[in-house]
Amino acid sequence: MPELSAKSSMLQASPIRKLAPHARAAEANGTNVIYLNIGQPDLPTPPEMIAALHHLPLTRLAYAPSEGLPETRDAWSAFFSSWDIDFAPDQILVTSGASEALTFILSIVAGGGDEVLVFEPCYTNYLSFAAQADVRLVPITLRVEDGYHFGSIDRLRACITPKTRAILLCNPSNPTGTVYTADELKAVAQVALENDLFVISDEVYREFVFDDGLIRSFTHFKDLAQRIIIIDSVSKRFNACGVRIGCMATQNREIIDVALRYCQARLSVPTAEQLMVVPMLENGRAYSERLCGEYERRRDAVFKGLAAIDGVIPNLSEGSFYTMTRLPIDSCEEFAVFLLRDFSLDGETVCLAPGEGFYVTDGLGVDEVRVAFMYDAETLGRAMKILGAAVGAYPGRLAPAKV
Ligand SMILES: Cc1ncc(COP(=O)(O)O)c(C=O)c1O
Repeated sequence: MPELSAKSSMLQASPIRKLAPHARAAEANGTNVIYLNIGQPDLPTPPEMIAALHHLPLTRLAYAPSEGLPETRDAWSAFFSSWDIDFAPDQILVTSGASEALTFILSIVAGGGDEVLVFEPCYTNYLSFAAQADVRLVPITLRVEDGYHFGSIDRLRACITPKTRAILLCNPSNPTGTVYTADELKAVAQVALENDLFVISDEVYREFVFDDGLIRSFTHFKDLAQRIIIIDSVSKRFNACGVRIGCMATQNREIIDVALRYCQARLSVPTAEQLMVVPMLENGRAYSERLCGEYERRRDAVFKGLAAIDGVIPNLSEGSFYTMTRLPIDSCEEFAVFLLRDFSLDGETVCLAPGEGFYVTDGLGVDEVRVAFMYDAETLGRAMKILGAAVGAYPGRLAPAKV
């Protein structure tokens, strides 16, 4: 058989989905599995969106324009302005989720082994998007002890090489829940200016900021407007991951022109789905504010539960709907299998996302897990008790560090 490309071997299996067979087996044995591993919102998709689906004014499902339907670009523009973000419809391209926008933009700004800085742990699919675009991700490693903040601009400067083309960040962060401080964002902006870089700001969780914290969008750096590319999506903010509508927005005309060619090559984004999202984009602010309050209650339940487990370094998520944490366990991947195969408490267990897959650097994250807040606070509290009992029962538990 002919060999497959070298690039194809660089795509990792999703660390989030690889435990699925063990979870199915646990369920087949009658154990209730609480899925903490996946960011698939549990709350219903807004009725406005479902109503729009039922009343689509379509008699023919033709290709939509490659840049997106005018109604959908207008609606994204209205959505941005409801959050004081300025993008005209012609500065927005509708994409098949944020995922497609990320795939396009990485290969537009870099390629041929060029480097893009990223904070790790990071959204795991960045690794696959970068591999597809022939981009080398250069990680700036963050630690749970620092709340996964990087703090100093020197951390960024130290990673710049002649091959660096861009800084990619997710704010608020999946997987850590970090909301970067104003000073950290300024540091990113300054390094981008000093080194002539683009900033790709993945803001799919923009409105989910807890504790009355400020929403810190990269769009507010006006002097950087030509360098900034915003990646966005309806998936999480409107509980509509399956609708697959996202966008890329930038004031940089050259990027829009080139990205449009990528869009033309894939023809279009589904017509019906583009129409479905219009009502929520135009009028969804109150909805996502309510959601944020719910995620904050869930975050509190998870934090309280984690803090009560001996030897755990809990991390107070500041936004998104995830947290990452370190467990006193030698291998969280094996521990996650143990939880599904060998452990239950009152007929229930939990499915975790092991930390390793969120790191660019091999060998990091073995003692970390990501927890998603996709159940009500009570269930999450129960899940943390199960986790605590399992940590106590696990044979690979590490001895507490000597102080
Ligand atoms: C940080 C981040 N970016 C992008 C995506 C992809 O979003 P979409 O469903 O819009 O493709 C996700 C999905 O989980 C994500 O967490």
